[in-house]
Amino acid sequence: MKASDVRAIADRLRASGCVFAEDEAALIVETARDATEIAAMVDRRVSGEPLEYVVGWASFRGLRIAVEPGVFIPRRRTEFLVSEALRVVRDGAVVVDLGCGTGALGAAVAAERPVTVYAADIEPVAVRCARTNLAPYGGIVSAGDLFTALPDELRGRIDVLLSNVPYVPTDEIRLLPPEARLYEPHVTLDGGPDGLTTLRRVVAGAGEWLAPGGHLYVEMSDRQAPIAESVMQAARLTAEITTDDDLGANVVHGRLDPALDVE
Ligand SMILES: C[S@@+](CC[C@H](N)C(=O)[O-])C[C@H]1O[C@@H](n2cnc3c(N)ncnc32)[C@H](O)[C@@H]1O
Repeated sequence: MKASDVRAIADRLRASGCVFAEDEAALIVETARDATEIAAMVDRRVSGEPLEYVVGWASFRGLRIAVEPGVFIPRRRTEFLVSEALRVVRDGAVVVDLGCGTGALGAAVAAERPVTVYAADIEPVAVRCARTNLAPYGGIVSAGDLFTALPDELRGRIDVLLSNVPYVPTDEIRLLPPEARLYEPHVTLDGGPDGLTTLRRVVAGAGEWLAPGGHLYVEMSDRQAPIAESVMQAARLTAEITTDDDLGANVVHGRLDPALDVE
């Protein structure tokens, strides 16, 4: 394709409101197999569909993560949750990505450490994407509601639980950018009245599913992080908040007492 054609695509994307029009045009041209596919991708993007759905992948910690329309698109800020978790992930650890979406978190950990990785989500499209993304690491992906989706033998054996479950308060979904609000299913975003409904359920199950000394990592907004910390403490987890100002990310890390008897 000629440089002038790529510029024409960028012009069309910019006119429709794409801020990074040149980069997006280059990505579309690089991803599409022929001119017909380029035209179809540009039309979809101009109509407002997220770029990741259009090209079929998202970048996460340098990995190319497969993304199908209808799955939650992994966010750059969530790379911080993975960095924090990697501090404690040992070789051979059992790592679970619960509410996995594309499975980006589990894949990013497994790309850096030899671990056994499991993932689960309630949405069939997420399970499909996660199976694709975790296949190179032998990841085991299942469908269902939180812990009920996991194999029973993981009870009391999870070393590191990554759980970026929905945390947008229901009333605030209308304030999200259209790409999220209109294209990502609300089950991937909606955290209930204060955004912490699913998080509370994860914490309630963590004591039973984590190994003694096991770790839980979640992402929360500035306002929610101290509440999530208290929720963890009330569930007998030690808890701390870490923040990355550049990424605008808060991670709440809970840990089960290493000496605790697991019933
Ligand atoms: C905010 S998205 C995050 C996805 C992924 N962890 C990430 O960070 O890219 C939350 C995910 O939790 C899933 N989810 C919501 N409720 C769930 C439930 N009750 N059980 C399992 N998964 C659930 C959604 O389908 C969605 O994929």
